[in-house]
Amino acid sequence: MAQKTVVRFTESLELFARAEEAIAGGSQTSSKRPGGYAYGAYPIYASRANGSRIWDIDGNEYIDYVNGLGPIVLGYSYPEVDAAIAEQLSKGIIYGLLSPLEVEVADSLIAAVPAAEMVRFLKGGAEANNAAARIARAHTKREIILNNGYRGWSDGWNASRNDGGIPVALESYVKQFRYNDLNHLEDLFHTYDGKIAAVILDAASLGKEPEPGYLQDLNDLAHRKGALVIYDEIVTGFRLAMGGAQEFFGVTPDLATFAKATANGMPLAAVVGSKEVMRTAADCMISITYGGEALSLAAAVATMKVMRAHNVHAHLHSIGELLKDGINGAARRAGVALEAYGLAPLSGERFLDAVDAEEDALMWHFLLAGCAQRGVLMRRGGCNFVTYSHSEDDVAETVAAIEDALHDLRRAREGGNLALTVSELATG
Ligand SMILES: Cc1ncc(COP(=O)(O)O)c(C=O)c1O
Repeated sequence: MAQKTVVRFTESLELFARAEEAIAGGSQTSSKRPGGYAYGAYPIYASRANGSRIWDIDGNEYIDYVNGLGPIVLGYSYPEVDAAIAEQLSKGIIYGLLSPLEVEVADSLIAAVPAAEMVRFLKGGAEANNAAARIARAHTKREIILNNGYRGWSDGWNASRNDGGIPVALESYVKQFRYNDLNHLEDLFHTYDGKIAAVILDAASLGKEPEPGYLQDLNDLAHRKGALVIYDEIVTGFRLAMGGAQEFFGVTPDLATFAKATANGMPLAAVVGSKEVMRTAADCMISITYGGEALSLAAAVATMKVMRAHNVHAHLHSIGELLKDGINGAARRAGVALEAYGLAPLSGERFLDAVDAEEDALMWHFLLAGCAQRGVLMRRGGCNFVTYSHSEDDVAETVAAIEDALHDLRRAREGGNLALTVSELATG
């Protein structure tokens, strides 16, 4: 059985108290806010990371499945990638002249991704999706985009869930559609006849997998109506397959966006598409200072080289499957209705029998804290981002930790002590 080893997060908690005074919201990323994990019983600040492992500033070591929320795909501090960054660093980070790496990475993306005949580089997923929307609107001379899912923080994508600061008028330009429901899409095409520039979606994500024929039918419908199809491959890109979800499912969109795993953690995003559509981007106002930043481009070249030289994606699938099976076995043995589900390189867990949202939150808090105490970092309701550096031994250690934590969870729940134990966890 895995031993409980980690019990104190003193340095993390002290630093976060300072952060709350100095940084609005305490962190730069909503999904990294400590309140979303097991506050007081889960690390907050990292000091370093290597391979599949991460260390917090209190000196505790963990096997990491959060991995920066997806960018780390080969593993932390991956030698070939770090060497490429260091070599480029000695030559300069960014120039007023163009970097030859822009062409090298463009060619590499074009070789890897079915939809890619031309590319443009950006820095984050939201930016890439904004660029894709602008290209699609300019190309079709239409304004409405049909969307399913999260596209990043920027105005257009968030108007319908406006929590402040977004012009209400923008709501009329992005309409939400239901995944795997072609009839709903047809209705929207009917309602906004001749006005829809594009349909944007994750071809697959945690909890969403396309029904047979859905993606091809969606392509056909959109094209019949004169609209483009955009795949957001921010999560699936370079993770499900070298060519992303479009290669994995065998359906090619008109445009696609990439970020996270493209450069093993360095900030690089891209919008790619057919020459016909992408030529529009030449005349659109899409321009950022850091698009040709060379450290990230060097990292992307090295990341793609490693992916081509080794069977990285086969590993992500097999190690992800091992983890999923292992967690399901651990849950069965512990007598807890926790299910690991989803596509193996981006699987996740859910409790199947929580009586309500409050109990679900308590169980998650308990599980995350229990895993952290046993040297494993996971995320509530998010993907387990396995990497090329995660080994079978890592998975065995992880499964033992989860099983042990789940035994504790079942006992606390049966004893009616779940809430009490969760509050005690925070005090160590
Ligand atoms: C599917 C998807 N699209 C877009 C984004 C936004 O990417 P970024 O945070 O780099 O702007 C995310 C971020 O998690 C995402 O998961």
